[in-house]
Amino acid sequence: MQFFIDTANLDQIQEAKELGILDGVTTNPSLMAKEGITGTDNVLNHYKKICDITTGDVSAEVISTDFAGMVEEGKRLSEIADNIVVKVPMIKEGIKAIRWFTDNGISTNCTLVFSAGQAILAAKAGATYLSPFIGRIDDITWDGMTLIKDIAEIYAIQGYMTNILAASVRSPLHIVQAAKNGADVVTCPLSAITGLLNHPLTDIGLAKFLADHKKANS
Ligand code: E4P
Repeated sequence: MQFFIDTANLDQIQEAKELGILDGVTTNPSLMAKEGITGTDNVLNHYKKICDITTGDVSAEVISTDFAGMVEEGKRLSEIADNIVVKVPMIKEGIKAIRWFTDNGISTNCTLVFSAGQAILAAKAGATYLSPFIGRIDDITWDGMTLIKDIAEIYAIQGYMTNILAASVRSPLHIVQAAKNGADVVTCPLSAITGLLNHPLTDIGLAKFLADHKKANS
C-alpha cells in the first residue's frame, strides 16, 4: 500500500519525504486555502513547489464544475510537472472530463466518492485513482471501511485497474484498516502516519535496553 500525505504544507511534505515513506501528495481547495495560497498563479506555483519536493504523484484539484472548464484547468495543471494528477469531483461532468483526460493520457483522481456505484462509474471512465472519503462516512455513523472492502472486491471481480486511494483517513487505525480492506493507497495527515510508530512496549523495551547497556558499561 502506498502512503500519500494529504496536505499543501511544504514543511510537512518535506518531513514525510525525509521519513522515507512518501509515495505522493493529495491536496484539495480547502487545504490550499488553509496554507493561505490564493489566486491562480500562486496556486500553480505552489503545486510546482510540491512537485519539486516529490517525484510521487501529486493530486491537484480542479475548481470548475463544467466539462469544458475542467478540461481547460486540468490541461493547465498537468503542464506543471509530469507527476501531476488532475483531481476531479464525482459528478456527471466530472465523469465526462475523466474520460477525456484518460483518452488524452492525463492521470486523474476521482474525488468525493461515497458509494460503490460511484466507484464503478469512475473506473469505467478510466480514473487512475478513486478517492472514497472514509472519515466523512464515519462522521455520519456509517462505516467507511466497509466501502473500501466493497470497492476492492468489485474491482478485483471486474478487473478494473483504477487504484483505490482511501481518503479522509485521519488516524493510525484508519491506515491499518485501509491496508486490511484492500486499499492501494492511503492519504492522510502526517500525524496519522507518525502515529503508527507508537507502542508503549517499544518505549519500555528501549528504556530497558539503554539502562542495561549503561549499567554494564559504567
Ligand atoms: C482527499 O483527497 C481529501 O482531500 C481529504 O482526504 C479529505 O479529508 P477530510 O475529510 O479530513 O477533510
